[in-house]
Amino acid sequence: MLLDVRHLHKAFGGNQAVNDVSFSLHAGELLALIGPNGAGKSTTFNLVNGQLAPDSGHITLDGVSLLGLQPHELWRLGVSRTFQIAQTFGSLTVVENVQMALLSADGQSLSPWRRATHYRRNDALALLAQVHLHEQANRPCSALAYGDVKRLELAMALANEPRVLLMDEPTAGMAPDERHALMDLTRRLVTQRGVAVLFTEHSMDVVFGHADRVLVMARGALIAQGTPAQVQADAHVQAVYFGSGKTFGGSHTSQASEEASRHPMTGLTTSQPSTTGDPS
Ligand SMILES: Nc1ncnc2c1ncn2[C@@H]1O[C@H](COP(=O)(O)OP(=O)(O)OP(=O)(O)O)[C@@H](O)[C@H]1O
Ligand SMILES: [Mg+2]
Repeated sequence: MLLDVRHLHKAFGGNQAVNDVSFSLHAGELLALIGPNGAGKSTTFNLVNGQLAPDSGHITLDGVSLLGLQPHELWRLGVSRTFQIAQTFGSLTVVENVQMALLSADGQSLSPWRRATHYRRNDALALLAQVHLHEQANRPCSALAYGDVKRLELAMALANEPRVLLMDEPTAGMAPDERHALMDLTRRLVTQRGVAVLFTEHSMDVVFGHADRVLVMARGALIAQGTPAQVQADAHVQAVYFGSGKTFGGSHTSQASEEASRHPMTGLTTSQPSTTGDPS
């Protein structure tokens, strides 16, 4: 077991967004976290990667507590994350975005006015090739289609050779073919490098077609977990999805993105910080 989460609680005012959530994630495992809008999935991610502090509970990586560590400290330990609303630097080129992530992974400080143009460029191009974006390397990031921004974000998340990769709605805004291609790519990372991946996803064909195991949240609590087949057959899960009139197929993003001046994982800033917007 690589990542272990025990009895996590997080409330916003009177709203128990995460209520006694426990799960573990193994090296070489692709674990899906699903649930209706507002179930607490992104909040769980924010707790695991240090953006939020839990009210109570424990999170350990290889037996070492992660509580109290900041996102960039976790990133140095090999916990990478991609976001429901992709976080990239729109003012930089595609390859420079990856170079920035490499700089951070190497512990290099970066002045706000310095660009990463020459830093480990070939390594950055190799990371882009992995996500099939190398042909767009020199385009401004702001010119990319949304699905391509999501793949760029993945390349950036790989810059620190993560042991744990948290992906919040990695395929949102992508066409069905692109979704499966991205998940096939993720699967290769899992098998070839032994990366442990936790991802949230609203597209059920992606979840049931790619995950090894599925966790189901509703109203802050974990209501089921098991193989895709077990979870699909679970009466409680069916009631939560079908009883509410929501289908398994819907894709939706609801969170507003904050205009971050600092990349949330790498901690880097650029002269003209920019986050890519919600496609809808
Ligand atoms: N920063 C915050 N302040 C107050 N309430 C919040 C905050 N973040 C999340 N919430 C609330 O916590 C609950 C869980 O939200 P969360 O974003 O974790 O859900 P989610 O499962 O990721 O939903 P979605 O599928 O829409 O992305 C919701 O009721 C949400 O309104
Ligand atoms: Mg969410």
